[in-house]
Amino acid sequence: MSICTLRSLNLAQSLPLCTISSHSGHRGITELVFIVQFLANSVLMAAVTAENLIIECAKQMGESSILRQANCRAKGAAPGFKVAILGAAGGIGQPLAMLMKINPLVSVLHLYDVVNSPGVTADISHMDTGAVVRGFLKQEQLASALTGMDLVIIPAGVPRKPGMTRDDLFNINAGIVRTLCEGIAKCCPKAIVNLISNPVNSTVPIAAEVFKKAGTYDPKRLLGVTMLDVVRANTFVAEVLGLDPREVDVPVVGGHAGVTILPLLSQVKPPCSFTPEETEYLTNRIQNGGTEVVEAKAGAGSATLSMAYAAVKFADACLRGIRGDKDVVACAFVDSQVTELPFFATKVRLGPNGAEEVYQLGPLNAYERAGLEKAKKELAESIQKGISFARK
Ligand SMILES: NC(=O)c1ccc[n+]([C@@H]2O[C@H](COP(=O)([O-])OP(=O)(O)OC[C@H]3O[C@@H](n4cnc5c(N)ncnc54)[C@H](O)[C@@H]3O)[C@@H](O)[C@H]2O)c1
Repeated sequence: MSICTLRSLNLAQSLPLCTISSHSGHRGITELVFIVQFLANSVLMAAVTAENLIIECAKQMGESSILRQANCRAKGAAPGFKVAILGAAGGIGQPLAMLMKINPLVSVLHLYDVVNSPGVTADISHMDTGAVVRGFLKQEQLASALTGMDLVIIPAGVPRKPGMTRDDLFNINAGIVRTLCEGIAKCCPKAIVNLISNPVNSTVPIAAEVFKKAGTYDPKRLLGVTMLDVVRANTFVAEVLGLDPREVDVPVVGGHAGVTILPLLSQVKPPCSFTPEETEYLTNRIQNGGTEVVEAKAGAGSATLSMAYAAVKFADACLRGIRGDKDVVACAFVDSQVTELPFFATKVRLGPNGAEEVYQLGPLNAYERAGLEKAKKELAESIQKGISFARK
């Protein structure tokens, strides 16, 4: 018998039992009263025993027992923003959730996925940082995951695998993004959305169409995450220049796939120049950074850790923008009038409503102008593909 059970039985036995009086002239009634009292005592004892058993077991299990956990949640150290990650149990989602739990601007972190979100939530919720973490599983909990959120980050979907066609990837992820954005339109239409799911060049137009259909579209609030291209560009350029990557700022414009990724090496800060060979090498490496990781992982997925880092860098910039910090600038794939295309990635100024200002391209050299034409051609097709999918 367990310690809990023993302890409960002892306590139950020490209860005062109801006293029974016997009068010879009322033998039948007395026996009836006795039976009723006996039954009442038994029920009382059983109830106290059960309650005591639960309390005692809870004590034995410590503060994290199921009982206490339900009533007692960390309050979060400081006021901050409410952030949801959709696809939080994935290769990007998990490190992204961990890094957002560390972010002091986050007070509430909602982790949603169609699988494994309870495990990821339990794990991350043990980190002693300010944000309160809650998990949500499957479509029926999507509304609860989204309600009240300031920022929604979407890495849900399938990653590129060797042998997978672009169409395979598109068809799966387009449907996922559409469903999730329908949820956002209903439950948190004012949230700023960071869309990571590929192909970003098509998923951002899909999200825009969903929001337009729902009557909630605010172009400033929808941002395709291209930060990984910038992170890679900063790293590779720093390697060539022999600098610390943190000192390097490379604008990367266009879109987020192959030739649509256009690093503007003529605008690198600190100002520097590159030989034609260096320009060719850097442009190719930045455009094919994703493939470099897919091939190195040999079937085990695409960039997840550097992507989570880039996503957090971008989300943090968005949160600082919402907070009202001045001069928060980052590259993103947004609704744009910079070119004739309806969406394009450039530097944007982030503010309380998202992309408050979309910057122009600035002066391009001949190499970049040729790259821009190639990028625009492919981008136009990807954007149209997204729009057609959403309007079907
Ligand atoms: N924007 C970028 O720079 C960039 C970089 C790398 C990868 N990606 C893209 O990010 C996405 C995720 O990549 P990953 O490596 O984390 O993939 P993954 O397969 O490891 O994780 C994806 C997660 O999404 C979840 N998911 C699937 N359907 C869902 C739905 N309907 N609702 C909620 N969650 C759902 C899965 O259960 C899984 O946990 C892919 O589309 C990938 O191509 C984008």
